[in-house]
Amino acid sequence: MITGSSGLIGSEAVQYYDNQGYRVIGVDNNMRREFFGPKGDNTWNLVRLQQAVHNFQYVDLDIRDRVGSQSLS
Ligand SMILES: NC(=O)c1ccc[n+]([C@@H]2O[C@H](COP(=O)([O-])OP(=O)(O)OC[C@H]3O[C@@H](n4cnc5c(N)ncnc54)[C@H](O)[C@@H]3O)[C@@H](O)[C@H]2O)c1
Repeated sequence: MITGSSGLIGSEAVQYYDNQGYRVIGVDNNMRREFFGPKGDNTWNLVRLQQAVHNFQYVDLDIRDRVGSQSLS
């Protein structure tokens, strides 16, 4: 499971573990858009991952959301 999976490092980690043959769960909520406005929107990177990565499940979740994160277990 990769948190910040749509970001610079997270998206690279998703691709790395996918290439190793793992099933990858990516958690992100595009908080970057909240921080930096439309120019920080990383939806493009999520779409790229969903097209390029073989075994990838994206979960739109704030990592501070303890109740929501229970759905990941
Ligand atoms: N980029 C670097 O060179 C570098 C070097 C050393 C350490 N780091 C650290 O690695 C981490 C990631 O860096 P990055 O460059 O990939 O940043 P980034 O902004 O590209 O990616 C961070 C991702 O986390 C997501 N995110 C933020 N808050 C969230 C939340 N509450 N819930 C879910 N998702 C959330 C954002 O939407 C974004 O996609 C940061 O902690 C950074 O300080 C980065």
